[in-house]
Amino acid sequence: MSVTPPLYSPHLPPVFVLMNRAGSVGKTTCAVTCAALAALDGYRVLLVDADLQTDASFSLGWEGDSIPAGKATVHDVMLGTAKLDDAVVPGRTRIQAGTGEDAFQPIPGLDLLLGDTAMAQADGELVQEATGAFWLQRALRRHTVPGQYDMILIDCPASLGRLSVSLLVAASNVIACIKPTHKELRGVAKLLETIAAVQEDFADFDVRPELTHLLVCEARQSRSEGAVYKETVDSAREMFGDRVLPMIHRSVLVPEAYKAQEPLPFWSPQSRPVAEFRAVLSVLGFPKRNG
Ligand SMILES: Nc1ncnc2c1ncn2[C@@H]1O[C@H](COP(=O)(O)OP(=O)(O)OP(=O)(O)O)[C@@H](O)[C@H]1O
Ligand SMILES: [Mg+2]
Repeated sequence: MSVTPPLYSPHLPPVFVLMNRAGSVGKTTCAVTCAALAALDGYRVLLVDADLQTDASFSLGWEGDSIPAGKATVHDVMLGTAKLDDAVVPGRTRIQAGTGEDAFQPIPGLDLLLGDTAMAQADGELVQEATGAFWLQRALRRHTVPGQYDMILIDCPASLGRLSVSLLVAASNVIACIKPTHKELRGVAKLLETIAAVQEDFADFDVRPELTHLLVCEARQSRSEGAVYKETVDSAREMFGDRVLPMIHRSVLVPEAYKAQEPLPFWSPQSRPVAEFRAVLSVLGFPKRNG
């Protein structure tokens, strides 16, 4: 069932990018939950928050007043005005009310490249930058050391513009996230075209993103909720075969955990969605450790 990640860079671990042209399909939920769960299992993880909505950063305890003034972000790294390390903060989970240091507890093993709403301008800025499409690939290669991370996850905006192309350039594995409805599956077709274009445009460089996985988020428990949900999953399986990951079912715990700023493995460790995300991680090559 598992798909071997393509060989990518001498020292970089698999770089998973969560993408779809369609929005609200579970990209951030998957990125944050997999990152937190893998870190709890003893893997060293870097999560790149490349989305202007900064939902991954919020989910990991970084928003508004909790961010020190002048702190470098992913936007500064993109512009080349900060090094990766300067913009990395520990992923955190909330332990009490407030925005101070004591409101959050770091999650050992989980680093976050801090998001920034200024990424709204990224598509325009990337045209002007000398490193352009290579900004993240270069930052990861130059500013991480061999063995520093076991896995890198990139949370993307719902767009296939220039910023997303640059994220594909940095990635080895693309995970297409969908809801079990046809609109989101159509978004994956467009994503496949974009990946093919990147492979062709950057053929002379070490750029090889592959759509290795498809993740159905918000799957429905039973057919009675609507036959279209099951039909979409069937279509996805026909199109993507064993690239379809174990599904994540709809659960109220997901929006609850977001609101609480406690990643799911902290909000509800023994829950069904956590078990489902564990199954996903296992297929991605990161089985449960620490007992
Ligand atoms: N398994 C689930 N069960 C219930 N709600 C879910 C589930 N997965 C995601 N959601 C909810 O759906 C919404 C979108 O999820 P999420 O933010 O992860 O998607 P996204 O693809 O990152 O969205 P965007 O395109 O805006 O970045 C959120 O409100 C989230 O709480
Ligand atoms: Mg998101």
